[in-house]
Amino acid sequence: MTDEGIETRRVEKLLLPILDGHRRDAGRLVQILRQAQEALGYLPAAALTVIARAVDLPRARVEGVAGFYSFFHQNPVGHYRVLFSDNITDRMLGSAELIDRLCNKLWIERGKVSEDGLVSVDTTSCTGMCDQGPALLVNGRALTRLSAERVDRISELIRGQVPLADWPPDYFVVADNIRRRDALLNTQWPAGEALQAAIARGAEAMLSEMKLSNLRGRGGAGFTTHIKWESARRATCRHEPAARYVVCNADEGEPGTFKDRVLLSNYADLLFDGMSVAGITIGAQQGLVYLRGEYAYLLPALRANLERRRQSGLLGPALCGHPDLAFDIDIHLGAGAYVCGEETALLESLEGKRGVPRVRPPFPVSEGYLGQPTVVNNVETLCKAALIAVHGGAWFAGLGTKQSTGSKLLSISGDVESPGIYEYPFGVSVAQVLNDCGAGNAQAVQVSGPSGNCLAMHEFSRHIAFEDVPTAGAFMVFGAHRDMFEVARNFAHFFAHESCGFCTPCRVGTSLVANCMDKIANGLGSQYDIGEIFKIHRLLHAASHCGLGQAACNPLFDTLNKFRPAYERRLRSLDFEPAFDLDQALASARQMTGRDDPAAHFGLAARVTGVEP
Ligand SMILES: Cc1cc2nc3c(=O)[nH]c(=O)nc-3n(C[C@H](O)[C@H](O)[C@H](O)COP(=O)(O)O)c2cc1C
Ligand code: SF4
Repeated sequence: MTDEGIETRRVEKLLLPILDGHRRDAGRLVQILRQAQEALGYLPAAALTVIARAVDLPRARVEGVAGFYSFFHQNPVGHYRVLFSDNITDRMLGSAELIDRLCNKLWIERGKVSEDGLVSVDTTSCTGMCDQGPALLVNGRALTRLSAERVDRISELIRGQVPLADWPPDYFVVADNIRRRDALLNTQWPAGEALQAAIARGAEAMLSEMKLSNLRGRGGAGFTTHIKWESARRATCRHEPAARYVVCNADEGEPGTFKDRVLLSNYADLLFDGMSVAGITIGAQQGLVYLRGEYAYLLPALRANLERRRQSGLLGPALCGHPDLAFDIDIHLGAGAYVCGEETALLESLEGKRGVPRVRPPFPVSEGYLGQPTVVNNVETLCKAALIAVHGGAWFAGLGTKQSTGSKLLSISGDVESPGIYEYPFGVSVAQVLNDCGAGNAQAVQVSGPSGNCLAMHEFSRHIAFEDVPTAGAFMVFGAHRDMFEVARNFAHFFAHESCGFCTPCRVGTSLVANCMDKIANGLGSQYDIGEIFKIHRLLHAASHCGLGQAACNPLFDTLNKFRPAYERRLRSLDFEPAFDLDQALASARQMTGRDDPAAHFGLAARVTGVEP
């Protein structure tokens, strides 16, 4: 047998239990790859071959999926793989200096694996710990509140090859930082309370309560929840056996957002109740949670909770003792791709594919997971649905404003005294929030993350509500001493990194914009580059396939309009005029070639034809 054959046999033996555990189901490919990587340290060629054979997919397809997600590696990575969270709030807390410090201590270059294969240090997009940054992931586990001392100790632990299980446990503590409670965070019911209430109401009555509540999705787009639920309930199942699905979007990848993390760790029963309420309302028997890979540390507790619910009849067949009702929940882990928060990309990922957004229509409510009617809702939306099941739609509609009913969880970070989770009824002013979290000298707030809006001081009287300042939850505060150009530059790189590459305007546009920002940062930019950014903004907005590309230039557009001096002081010349006459300098060349037509003159051709030469 060849060396390659022996290696394939070895890998096959190691992966067998994983493949069998997932019933060799191609739909579980992302989960299989995750576990295979855990077992092998990375995904060698032999592993991809073995997996492709087992799940009966072309090898190229398996390789394509493995290549899509940033947490999968087809080459060896360090035994300790350190990834610093690279959100702007981490940077504001000194993450860049800490990365350099760790690299120097470990004698390694950032982005490379040490020669002995012991360690690699790099960055990753926001890990959802902005209230306790700077943060990093080591072998997928979150470490928070980094300091120079902590980084020095980490370098010693790595050099001493101390297993993660023996690192100081307080390094891995993730605090909840709940600062203000309202309708949702004040809830303390026993598990199953909302589910029982919904069963007592019945599916049609539950739908009516949802309609009365006017609940709108908390994941960003603000779509009316009862319309989604009703559409999925009434949609025809296109495949046999007929099935409907409830999917909880717990991808929470928008930089600056961490409220779902807190709901998942403290209010999991409310969430699972909300999913079960959605299930019995639309006629689904299966729920799926898509949990971002960065929150993998929550998985054991969430799985244990699901098991407890099964034991007490709150999940599984004969739900709550009703023989005609059944509902269960499974959890899938993501693997480091922000675009998978987009609901159709998420469904692709759940089906074991690359997380590329689908063409819509058809919408998930008619053809979603496995082509069946599917409701995709954010964690907070589903928790709110549980509240509505118990208190009724009218109660919920009495909170907040007419168009934005209920409350909203905000993830507050940046230049504030008390970062953390704040829950307010919709309609609260930005100024009030700033006052409550101790943001004394704010010059700007980025609401709803890089995809949202950057508000300047003159806008602080505006209100958090769908009809004024909508938000998925992020609220990043920037003090007067912050450089808003650097904020926008960080966001530009985020989008360039996270573009899935499916459509050209976004793939190319996000990179061009990031390059433009670097050029300006390096003192090489001019007004021309500003013009280019505006041009690309219009292009991305109009021609991108999904919301990622459409929103990618928002932070630049906002900061250019509201914080222009931060850009202009970097420009090489505010009004660039060449110091010599280029057309005149080309005269001898024209003479030599015997040409004197408009196209041979610099600038003249453009004036005559409207096209630059
Ligand atoms: C690039 C992109 C990323 C997104 N990320 C998330 C996310 O992490 N969590 C979320 O709930 N919605 C996210 N969304 C919105 C979802 O597509 C979808 O609207 C949402 O899950 C619907 O739930 P809701 O109606 O309860 O808000 C994202 C959208 C886009 C375009
Ligand atoms: S807009 Fe960007 S993220 Fe969305 S599909 Fe196109 S390339 Fe992918």
